[in-house]
Amino acid sequence: MRKRIIAGNWKMFKTASEVEQFTDALQSEIQQSTKVDVVICPPALYIANLVQATKNTPVNIGAQTMHNEKEGAFTGEISPTMLTSVGAKYVIIGHSERRQYFNETDEWVNAKTIAALEEGITPIVCVGESLEERDAGVTVSTVEEQVSKAFANIAAADVEKIVIAYEPIWAIGTGKTATADDANEVCGAIRHAVATLYNGEAANKVRIQYGGSVNPANIDELLSKEHIDGALVGGASLQTESFLQLIEAGSK
Ligand code: PGA
Repeated sequence: MRKRIIAGNWKMFKTASEVEQFTDALQSEIQQSTKVDVVICPPALYIANLVQATKNTPVNIGAQTMHNEKEGAFTGEISPTMLTSVGAKYVIIGHSERRQYFNETDEWVNAKTIAALEEGITPIVCVGESLEERDAGVTVSTVEEQVSKAFANIAAADVEKIVIAYEPIWAIGTGKTATADDANEVCGAIRHAVATLYNGEAANKVRIQYGGSVNPANIDELLSKEHIDGALVGGASLQTESFLQLIEAGSK
């Protein structure tokens, strides 16, 4: 059985006082033991504080991106070593917004994934097709290629340490969700791609999240599907109430 993982991606939202409000509410309302892995990826400057503020909760903190180098003259960047030094446990890699606006290539996604593994951080590697690719019928080949490039030079034994997030770009922040069956089909194709690249055991163990307009109303159906092991959530992770509902749905 794969343990489910519910991760919130806050993107570029929340001021310091809004973060504090969220955490206060979360601390008083979250169940101390959850059956799912829970992750929040805030803007980088809140990571250290949130690690402290969520210490006695099941919540893990992650970053939304990082550089692959340990240190260096890369103005504005943060490194894997810095992340572990403040207690971050996860990092989102290759989010479609990073690919689109910040030139994150498949090769860089691969380098960052390797760097995260070396540092003991769990990478959440995002893949997904654009609307044009879906309409052209190349969804599966697109995500297969993204997966095979992201996993280049990664050993079979490390595959289970990686989380894959399938996020169709057209479903992100648009209110349009892939149907649960469509999402499951692509997640199944991703699992099959991992089996082809490695073996059945690695494919069975790797966790695959769906992301794209997940909310408390649609999460149950998505999670009922065979290949969907959790959700990467933007908008609905910003409010404590809906985030807690997502965790609860994952724990069922
Ligand atoms: P959304 O974002 O839930 O707001 O669609 C998901 C994501 O980009 O990870």
